[in-house]
Amino acid sequence: MNLLIDNIGELVTNDPALGRGPLGIVRHAAVLVEDGVIAWVGRAAYAQPADRRLDAEGAAALPGFVDSHAHLVFAGDRAPEFAARMAGEAYTGGGIRTTVAATRAASDDDLRATVERLRREALRQGTTTIEIKSGYGLSVPDEARSLRIAREFTQETTFLGAHVVPSEYTDRPDDYVGLVCGPMLRAAAPHARWIDVFCERGAFDADHSRAILTVGQAAGLGVRVHANQLGPGPGVRLAVELGAASADHCTHLEKSDVDALAGSSTVATLLPGAEFSTRSAYPDARRLLDARATVALATDCNPGSSYTTSMPFCVALAVREMGMTPAEAVWAATAGGARALRRTDIGVLRPGARADLIVLDAPSHLHLAYRPGVPLVRHTVHNGVPLR
Ligand code: NIG
Ligand code: FE
Repeated sequence: MNLLIDNIGELVTNDPALGRGPLGIVRHAAVLVEDGVIAWVGRAAYAQPADRRLDAEGAAALPGFVDSHAHLVFAGDRAPEFAARMAGEAYTGGGIRTTVAATRAASDDDLRATVERLRREALRQGTTTIEIKSGYGLSVPDEARSLRIAREFTQETTFLGAHVVPSEYTDRPDDYVGLVCGPMLRAAAPHARWIDVFCERGAFDADHSRAILTVGQAAGLGVRVHANQLGPGPGVRLAVELGAASADHCTHLEKSDVDALAGSSTVATLLPGAEFSTRSAYPDARRLLDARATVALATDCNPGSSYTTSMPFCVALAVREMGMTPAEAVWAATAGGARALRRTDIGVLRPGARADLIVLDAPSHLHLAYRPGVPLVRHTVHNGVPLR
């Protein structure tokens, strides 16, 4: 059975060979989907009839959002911590241990229900690919089960055993790094595609981070790094040194960090939900783009620093607060996320790509930033199947 998405007023393909500008925009367009894959993209006037038709009613359509950074496997609530920050307290990452205690105490079914709820919430807002990290288990069995559950929802799973040193190892961080590099990695690797480390003062230093990421790489995992979130540090340079797919946060960058990213294949993944929820200064996307680094946007959805699943919200923040144009932000939230996950089959609408796309309740992609806080995603099509 095939599906024709017809009467699209403005189609963002992200393929400059197919349309105008860097977003490859085609006006009065249609997309033909067969077996979950895009079979044809072009002007609606040339479309062939199909078994099913979805009428976009002249609205804009674009690739589904690729959220390349989320922490969905957790239990508990940290709203009081958020309220305390809004009353003037600083974010330190210390609340991670609160979520670890709640996550360890939760049943598999409770954790699964939370991931399911957030995954649905994200889909309704147009996210068709989501990366999911562990990192709130921090024991061998709890990290392994977090990843097992994450795998039920996505292929893009990330082992973050090095999120913080759990309280039972406070006095012996070297022993914890040994656990992460040995038994924990062995239990996690079968369920993970990626390995990540929170490389930050108060979490893991450059030597510990390098040790963990290097053994992860040797076990066949790709590298991503939480880098330069709370202050300047070695995270970004380490990510580039190891050929990481992505350095995430990039809030506090020195010139050498920007230069390193610009001269590499490591994507700078910016997470404005975290600055919003911690009331911090936003990363300078303009500086990265002007240096020709590749920029992605993601939600960082987690119960502490950024409890949102909304990619449109991140697009709006990036445009208003981070010096991005609407076109750059839409590219970063779709094609940029695909680059950060080293995927060529998503984030783009061309024949052969996965049929993951959204139709807006708006005439153009500009409205994602122009109409902040408004539910603009009318249809989400995932693997060629319209949601609901
Ligand atoms: O990406 N920075 C480290 N980890 C998460 C926050 C986790 C938490 O506060 O629970 C982040 O912001
Ligand atoms: Fe994160």
